Amino acid sequence: MSSMQFLPQQSQTAQWSTHCYLACFFIMIACSRPVSPLYAPPVTTGIRSAFSATQTNSVVGGKQKSVTFNRLTVNIGGDFNPDTGHFRCRIPGAYYFSFSVGKFPKKMLSVILVKNEEEVQAIAYDDYRKKGRKVQSQSIMITLKEMDTVWLLLQQSPQYALYSNAGPYITFSGYLVYPDTSTSSYISNHLSQPGLYHPNCPPQADPWVSQMSEQPRSAFSVARTSTFMGQSGRQQDKPPLTFDVEYVNIGGSFNKTSGLFTCHFPGAYYFAFTVGKHPRKAVSVKLMTGKGEVQAMVFDEDTSKRREMQSQSLLLSLRQGDSVWLYSQQDERYAVYSNQGRYTTFSGFLVYPEAEPVPSPTNQDRTHL
Ligand SMILES: *[C@@H]1O[C@H](CO)[C@@H](O)[C@H](O)[C@H]1NC(C)=O
Repeated sequence: MSSMQFLPQQSQTAQWSTHCYLACFFIMIACSRPVSPLYAPPVTTGIRSAFSATQTNSVVGGKQKSVTFNRLTVNIGGDFNPDTGHFRCRIPGAYYFSFSVGKFPKKMLSVILVKNEEEVQAIAYDDYRKKGRKVQSQSIMITLKEMDTVWLLLQQSPQYALYSNAGPYITFSGYLVYPDTSTSSYISNHLSQPGLYHPNCPPQADPWVSQMSEQPRSAFSVARTSTFMGQSGRQQDKPPLTFDVEYVNIGGSFNKTSGLFTCHFPGAYYFAFTVGKHPRKAVSVKLMTGKGEVQAMVFDEDTSKRREMQSQSLLLSLRQGDSVWLYSQQDERYAVYSNQGRYTTFSGFLVYPEAEPVPSPTNQDRTHL
């Protein structure tokens, strides 16, 4: 009987203290944010930031610099402004961004994800000036400081255009994957301010944050700035595609020289990659694990002059020591195109670490009998 009561009581206490810490946290945010309506986020969002926006109208190049949006499906934290198309960072950390754009018939397509004043991060491109419509996508993870902006830069020429209609072809999404919990960050600064605490809470109320920073983290995002040509006759074991630009490498699990990601924390990981098609070459790039098991691939056997992109993504359940890499077909007919515009990207991050075994309530009951 007493053991039956013990557990609910304990969880109520735990719930109450969580509420208490949350209250402290929100009060501190409320007290320490600037009052300007432009920057004050709704206090109930906590350490969350996510947006997704779509555009149902086509956009012709030259009229505007940045892709803007007329529908917002999610805007947690209010950090995205659809009218300007700018995401402004409120919580420093590592963010995953992805976008898709429609190619307008008989026009070229070029959209660059930029940070602040046009620092190029990655491109979606298609120079096929035929009648067809289609969609090209790109995604990367980057780290942002407070007030950094991220937006999509349009080519300033009427030769370029984006296609969309009511079934929106144009989408832009981003979300905070890992908030920066280092000592200099927003969260620690704002939680450890002396004297700013709820009277019912203990003064140093940051176990919530330290708990968050103790969670295993693993993320990488890389790009190539040069083309990779397949070469027949060098058929060593499916060599990984290597990279020269590193946006993030949280936990250091990705080696861009070898092209290998090595899992340090077992769990469910999200992987996404985009590759450029080289003129006159086909594309075949596979997401590989273990001894060369193919998990997902992109393929484009069009060997015309045009350049375009292919994208793919997948969740994988990994064990410690597992490796993941991209393999581009080693054959002269195949290549992966890239240049300083960064067509070819590869990202991955831990979504859920493997759950720790939870002691069952029956066992706990027995210990208290
Ligand atoms: C990364 O890979 C390269 C090439 O295989 C290797 O020489 C280097 O030691 C690796 N770096 C780390 C930190 O493991």
